[in-house]
Amino acid sequence: METQIVDFVPFLAQKAGDFILDRWHDDFFVDKKSEFDLVTSVDKEVEELIIGEIKSAYPTFGIIAEESAYESGGDFGDLSKCPYIWIIDPIDGTTNFSHGFPFYCVSIALFKNTNYSESKNYDYIEGEIVAGAVYAPKLNEFFTAVKGQGAFLNEVPINCSKVSKISEAMVATGFSPYDREKNLPNFTKALKKVQAVRRTGSAAMDLCYLAMGRLDAFWEYDLKPWDIAAGSLIAKEAGAVVSDSNGNQLDLFGGDILATNKKIHKNFIKIFN
Ligand code: IPD
Ligand code: CA
Ligand code: CA
Repeated sequence: METQIVDFVPFLAQKAGDFILDRWHDDFFVDKKSEFDLVTSVDKEVEELIIGEIKSAYPTFGIIAEESAYESGGDFGDLSKCPYIWIIDPIDGTTNFSHGFPFYCVSIALFKNTNYSESKNYDYIEGEIVAGAVYAPKLNEFFTAVKGQGAFLNEVPINCSKVSKISEAMVATGFSPYDREKNLPNFTKALKKVQAVRRTGSAAMDLCYLAMGRLDAFWEYDLKPWDIAAGSLIAKEAGAVVSDSNGNQLDLFGGDILATNKKIHKNFIKIFN
């Protein structure tokens, strides 16, 4: 059973990514959830496709998906009764997508509710991400990981970089559409110390690029679980340290994340504090 579920993660990502690519040159609607937070008709269509597939294959699993969460005002239903929870970002990098900038992906993670029991009635969720897939269809880059089994790009194993000097590190960050200035103090601090800072527009891809050594660190504030669920497992499986911005255990719902190639983690915590 478990292998089947885990294999469903890349299957879904492939299907969703191919669907997005099909729509790439079509006309699509761009809407605003807030002044700087965009959603396109493709985000909605692809999320519907993913959820439809999940509901017919695994009807008892929970779902945390960006656009449905927006529609329901953040009500995910009673997830404590679900053995597994899917965490979905139909397009991470929607602003890029809407401008024809090819750096976007679909991100799908599978969270195992280790507190789930058919016979008992727990009312809380405890667990971990057990599988993740991030597929950037326009770049033909397909990242996958299963807990304890390493991380892969297009089926080839990947590892974080070995950069140990902060002055030689290329790092990425992002700015929340809801509070763009919050990250400015740390952005300024990091900019003075590192070799280069990038802002790609996709947190999921930032984590995957950390996983394959193209980036040496990534941090951001006010992210949502769907931005980082799959990417954080892929990064960890490639050897990254993934924490909150203070170096404490990552909380998927906490918003802030600091992920590095491990060698420069302490430097970053020092820079930020
Ligand atoms: C956004 C991207 C971006 C990050 C934003 C996210 P979306 O997700 O991950 O890199 O800086 O905070 O909201 O809206 O493209 O799915
Ligand atoms: Ca996102
Ligand atoms: Ca999105």
